[in-house]
Amino acid sequence: MTEIQLERIKLRQITQEDWDFLLMLESRPESNEFQNIREPDEDYLRLRFEYFFDCAEHFPEGGCIRFIVEKEGEPIGDVSLVCTYSDTREWELGFSFLREHWGNGYAAEAVEGIKEYAFRTLNAHRLVMNILYDNKKAIALAERAGFTKEAHFRKSSLIDEKWHDETVYALLS
Ligand SMILES: CC(C)(COP(=O)(O)OP(=O)(O)OC[C@H]1O[C@@H](n2cnc3c(N)ncnc32)[C@H](O)[C@@H]1OP(=O)(O)O)[C@@H](O)C(=O)NCCC(=O)NCCS
Repeated sequence: MTEIQLERIKLRQITQEDWDFLLMLESRPESNEFQNIREPDEDYLRLRFEYFFDCAEHFPEGGCIRFIVEKEGEPIGDVSLVCTYSDTREWELGFSFLREHWGNGYAAEAVEGIKEYAFRTLNAHRLVMNILYDNKKAIALAERAGFTKEAHFRKSSLIDEKWHDETVYALLS
């Protein structure tokens, strides 16, 4: 199991035991405010959860990987990497943290750790974040982590019958 020890937090690869935590995290409205699916049901979340285990089994060299972020042994969030184009070694980064832990730089620390892991261990060439334009906290995180804004799609996402702009941020190795 992959583990990345950082200064204040640890990233450890998910296990089946993490289902209850991730269900709780991903069922919270604030976790989904800026996601394409606002109220994901349990079946959808379970499929998404199992996807990372299937992927690890079928692509042991690394088609995707998901980590629980722990602080003092307690889960506070998750970060994931999904290989979107293997030929060009492009990976998409996703993340979500419990609201009570926002505003402390933990997500920033996790992104620094995952950047290092993606470039050094996975030999990634490009890391990409797809972020809704209204998700100011995620955009601030991407910019603080050195990602460059590469695209702005106008009214390309439809959530609750309302159009939203989407942005693409990327970082090269
Ligand atoms: C996106 C998300 C992870 C950002 O969380 P966050 O806590 O704001 O992010 P950071 O860890 O970078 O923390 C930054 C804040 O901590 C502060 N901070 C305190 N100590 C810090 C430290 N040691 N290092 C860095 N920042 C620190 C920063 O000043 C900043 O404060 P501000 O929000 O008042 O500007 C969070 O909002 C979230 O989980 N959202 C729901 C899921 C989601 O939208 N995911 C993205 C989908 S694309």
